[in-house]
Amino acid sequence: MAKILVTGGAGYIGSHTTLLLLEAGYEVVVIDNLSNSSLESLRRVEQITDKRVTFYKVDLREENKINDIFTEHEIESVVHFAGLKAVGESTEIPLDYYEQNVYGTLSLLKVMERNNCFNIVFSSSATVYGDPASVPITEDFPISATNPYGRTKLFIEEILRDLSVSNDKWRIVLLRYFNPIGAHESGLIGEDPQGIPNNLMPFVSQVAVGKRDKLSVFGNDYDTVDGTGVRDYIHVVDLSDAHVKSVEKIKEFEGVSTFNLGTGNGYSVLQMIDAFIKETGKPVPFSIEPRRPGDIAECWADASLANQKLDWKAERGLSEMIKDTWRWQNQNPNGYDN
Ligand code: NAD
Ligand code: UFG
Repeated sequence: MAKILVTGGAGYIGSHTTLLLLEAGYEVVVIDNLSNSSLESLRRVEQITDKRVTFYKVDLREENKINDIFTEHEIESVVHFAGLKAVGESTEIPLDYYEQNVYGTLSLLKVMERNNCFNIVFSSSATVYGDPASVPITEDFPISATNPYGRTKLFIEEILRDLSVSNDKWRIVLLRYFNPIGAHESGLIGEDPQGIPNNLMPFVSQVAVGKRDKLSVFGNDYDTVDGTGVRDYIHVVDLSDAHVKSVEKIKEFEGVSTFNLGTGNGYSVLQMIDAFIKETGKPVPFSIEPRRPGDIAECWADASLANQKLDWKAERGLSEMIKDTWRWQNQNPNGYDN
């Protein structure tokens, strides 16, 4: 069976995708510098699947070491997750974001080209739609960036488009994720944010488990159903499944293919809190605070293109997303640091 290289495979989405790739019968080689993750995630993936992962602790920017890995393994396709991802932090240390995300990707692409590996699935983000003029969002909406993190995604997308023009052997899949939440149903792997979580659901579940006093709801004066921000939350296992489908179909595609990955449903912050309390029976104290700079009112996907071309659809609803988030949080109150 073909070998797949997963960059950032010890991270949140990477570990779930590695698991599904192993279950689908692929051999998986993971590279990760472990800057935002722990090797324990991959140990647990091995425990769940009873299969082995080949792991290298290496940074994307270490071109020679990555080249050695391509020499050692015949890699058919790359699934590229590795990078920094905190929007707020990216405004404070933009050079680190450009270096790790953009330069790191250039280093990877050079090695791929040198080793005749031309298939890549890239983690892009709905952040490339900026503040969309309307919802739902289709892939042909104009793209823009409002912060350095988003701009790295935009630049990498453009670099990949240039690359596809330079050589028609390239098969590139850009996956634009909406808001991934949830965890594997085993409760053994999940999202393990370092420090104070930036994202809504990890924060809510840390409040529910007693690690934090209360949630701040950032703004209730948006033009939405109840004034709070609306997003398209998608179960991480559904999201990961789209990567397996992309790897399966990538050779049928030409040049660059771009897909939104969302459910097509939007939920407000207050609806998410209500649903969480209903599913878990845990209280989630919160207060209404000012808007977070850079946030948009609402954002949800039209994911019908992924349905047509990848034969993929998000299967898991909100209740499953919340139950799985909670199982992971409850069984691992300190993440992988138990
Ligand atoms: P994560 O931080 O859990 O995973 C990223 C992994 O990459 C980590 O294990 C980290 O140690 C590793 N890494 C970072 N820089 C590296 C480098 N220079 N060399 C080698 N390894 C490096 O994040 P995630 O939530 O799993 O996100 C994966 C990808 O999806 C990222 O590219 C992210 O920008 C993108 N994305 C995430 C979201 C989200 O909400 N989680 C939304 C849209 C897009
Ligand atoms: N929110 C709160 N309190 C919190 C955290 C978030 O009220 O403590 C609100 C936000 O204001 C927003 C919603 O919850 O209305 C979702 O916020 P997240 O931070 O969970 O997600 P975002 O949509 O802001 O950002 C996510 C990813 C980004 C990506 C973006 C667009 O984290 O990486 O989606 O794809 F760029």
